[in-house]
Amino acid sequence: MTQLLHNGPTQAPSPLFTTTLSLPGCDADAWVVVDSTVNGLAMGGTRMTATVDQSELAALARAMTHKLALVDLPIGGAKAGIRPRGAVGDRDALMRTFGQVSRPLMHGGLYLGCDQGTTQADRDTFFAAAGYDVTGVPGATRLDVEWHQFYKTMSDITGFGVAAAALGTLEAQGVRTPQRVVLQGFGAVGRAAALHLTAAGHQIVAVADVLGTIEDPAGLPVDKLLECTGIDGTIDRGKLPFSVRTHDGDRAWLTVGADLLVLAANADAVDESAVSSVRAGIVVEGGNMSCSKPARRMLRDAGHTVLPDVVVNVGGAALTGTVITGIAPSGLTTPRLSAWLRDWISTKIKKNCALVQELTASGSPDPVAELLTARNIAL
Ligand SMILES: NC(=O)c1ccc[n+]([C@@H]2O[C@H](COP(=O)([O-])OP(=O)(O)OC[C@H]3O[C@@H](n4cnc5c(N)ncnc54)[C@H](O)[C@@H]3O)[C@@H](O)[C@H]2O)c1
Repeated sequence: MTQLLHNGPTQAPSPLFTTTLSLPGCDADAWVVVDSTVNGLAMGGTRMTATVDQSELAALARAMTHKLALVDLPIGGAKAGIRPRGAVGDRDALMRTFGQVSRPLMHGGLYLGCDQGTTQADRDTFFAAAGYDVTGVPGATRLDVEWHQFYKTMSDITGFGVAAAALGTLEAQGVRTPQRVVLQGFGAVGRAAALHLTAAGHQIVAVADVLGTIEDPAGLPVDKLLECTGIDGTIDRGKLPFSVRTHDGDRAWLTVGADLLVLAANADAVDESAVSSVRAGIVVEGGNMSCSKPARRMLRDAGHTVLPDVVVNVGGAALTGTVITGIAPSGLTTPRLSAWLRDWISTKIKKNCALVQELTASGSPDPVAELLTARNIAL
């Protein structure tokens, strides 16, 4: 029998437990927050920023509970945080110590992945230090390669899911012509979404990174942009093709004419003050909390279709969750398992996007809350 454990609705998220870690020899504070468990399992990323604290982690762990429940995965939500007290000196040593200290939690049913400020290499380091492997979790899917090798072949999965949300919604709206896409954020999520949207025949007319906006109304050459983009998602202006225009303004991407706006960067990228400038009919929240809550409502009231973050950017979490819980079939070759997972993830995301649209059309003020209530999950 599935056993979901979580605290009911409270004003602030109230996790099942918060553990303060002390990392010997490292000048950093660290915590692990578990919002909910299902059959003793929970999962979430590890955030490393100068400002992360327990209340931020509690909110993020609750968002994980929501995300996983919305795709019907029997696993709870969690989050870990590392807050260095100054510059990170020996990063490997920090990650190793984090892995050693959180070892009992990981072997007790908690999966900790990467999040803002940590990389897949960091995760490999703390997994090795903890002697942890996803495929060692009882009941997990058996793979034909090691987990970290498999994950590398799926590193586009969150952006793939974001693109699937957009494509499913266009299909549901009966749109069959190539659409103009503006992408805010050209990191792991934005780049993968760009590739999958262009592969489906759509045109990326503008891309924004932390330095500004790059635009070509005739369509940006995505392959060339990828060549001049760093791993952190910053585009080297010195290497751009001559055909493109650049704008330095913080929100120049808002004013570019588009049918689809994919947000894949910072929180509150579209806040109340930005709503009236949004030109795209469909707004996809690829990043966490890309639209402020009031902005989301105002966009809907103004007739935009808004695809919310917890519904669309679940790809990476769903990939890991399906393997840990053994929902993904065992014994498949890597290409066949990859195809199975992509089909499973895009089907779930498209279905949830359709449900959000149905609820919006029927006047629901908060479609995600309604979907969660139907699953007996507290906000
Ligand atoms: N990577 C994942 O699998 C994943 C999963 C779920 C949610 N998310 C969320 O998606 C968002 C993007 O994640 P990512 O992994 O692609 O991040 P990333 O760090 O790889 O890339 C971030 C991109 O956003 C740009 N950017 C930052 N601030 C900006 C600003 N003010 N204006 C315009 N561009 C700006 C950066 O230059 C970069 O191109 C984040 O909110 C993240 O929490 C990511």
